Amino acid sequence: MKNPTILSVKVLLIIGSASLMIFSACKKSQSNATSRSETPILPATPYQYMTVEDGGKSIDITELIHDESKTMVSDQSVTLGRVLFYDTKLSINNTISCGSCHKQALGFADNVAASIGFSDRVTPRNSMSIQNAVHNNNMFWDSRAKSPMELSMMPVFNHLEMGMETDQMLESKLSATSYYPELFQKAFGSSAITKDKIALAMTHFVNCLFSKQSKFDEGMKGPFGMLGDPSQVDPANFTPLELEGKKLFFSEALKCSQCHAGSNFSAPDFEGGSYGGGGFTGNNNDPNDPRGTANIGLDYIYKDNGRGGGKFKIPSLRNIALTGPYMHDGRFKTLDDVLNHYSHGIKNHPNLDEKFKVNGVAKNINMNEGEKLAIISFLNTLTDRNLITNPKFSDPFVMH
Ligand code: HEC
Ligand code: HEC
Repeated sequence: MKNPTILSVKVLLIIGSASLMIFSACKKSQSNATSRSETPILPATPYQYMTVEDGGKSIDITELIHDESKTMVSDQSVTLGRVLFYDTKLSINNTISCGSCHKQALGFADNVAASIGFSDRVTPRNSMSIQNAVHNNNMFWDSRAKSPMELSMMPVFNHLEMGMETDQMLESKLSATSYYPELFQKAFGSSAITKDKIALAMTHFVNCLFSKQSKFDEGMKGPFGMLGDPSQVDPANFTPLELEGKKLFFSEALKCSQCHAGSNFSAPDFEGGSYGGGGFTGNNNDPNDPRGTANIGLDYIYKDNGRGGGKFKIPSLRNIALTGPYMHDGRFKTLDDVLNHYSHGIKNHPNLDEKFKVNGVAKNINMNEGEKLAIISFLNTLTDRNLITNPKFSDPFVMH
């Protein structure tokens, strides 16, 4: 028979070391500047979200929203969306929020090639930056969603990303918290928590991640810039190197702006355009519509075919300096690597975009070191400090 004193000493030792472990874990999280609060820390009066800066004008965000998410949008609903976006309770095991893979400081992208979902599952693609989603007809690397509203609930129920199993599971989990019933009441006039309202508020927040306050935008303010074509007007505040980069970016020889087009530097995916898309109202279910995707000759044989045939969404280049690694699979670490691809890495894939072909054969867009440097310094002007530092877009669970 075992000696009861020895047994109880052993038990005491185990309890002792366990509490020591808990104690040191607490100490560790306390000393960590980003320890998390159980409940969101919100300002007494909500932040103002409805007015955004666009090309030197203040405009109402609702003027830019094209889909059903236009309804019931207010500072309170965006506040609710902000809480939902950063709340790890939206994941099955309380470890992952949208903000885990879409980080404010990184232009709402992630700095790893493949993001980590719940239980360390790895997403097959590189997390995308989120900004100016209101201008976006096509979402995800394969353009499978046509609006932020359609997209919003996809990651929550995606087993790699957040792993929630049913609507009821999510609704009852959020209803049981101390803060959601009140936040839903303020946002939608009823404390009832439904999947549709969750998606709506989340979309409201995503729509407000509006980015038009970069050095480029500042320089475009003024009598010509506001109305003008960005290829024609030189921003007043640019250095000679940035101006040189801009000239190259918009040049016929390099073609960058023919795909990364318009003031959002994203796919020219309007109805009837060469990259299809059909906008918010067009026939987005047509499987032959490229919906703003292109094949840029990354591989001879693609492991992931994207929209089909190695075609991937032509992404916006806003905040691009912050959102590496690059491409759908995060294969390139730096912008220099990206430019090296266009300069001498384009593969002769059967679906390669026409812009990279001469007489039906792949042709690289040669750039020398000086030109690459100039283009990168131009791309750096697209970084928007307001988006990445404004507390109204920040994680409300972080204790400072
Ligand atoms: C585990 C990481 C992860 C989590 C969590 C996550 N995302 Fe994503 N997100 C990604 C990846 C990876 C992509 C690209 C996926 C693809 O193309 O198939 C993406 C794409 C997107 C896009 C498309 C952007 C564009 O321009 O096309 C939006 C918007 C988005 N996510 C919003 C959200 C929201 C809202 C949540 C929370 C409900 C969320 N994400 C949670 C990794 C994540
Ligand atoms: C034919 C259209 C097309 C042209 C022309 C083009 N791009 Fe792209 N670009 C794309 C597509 C499509 C992707 C995404 C490809 C993928 O991930 O498979 C991309 C990706 C990028 C990325 C990485 C974006 C990210 O978020 O990971 C950068 C940076 C970029 N392009 C810059 C440029 C520059 C600079 C030029 C001019 C030298 C240029 N592109 C010309 C279509 C184009």
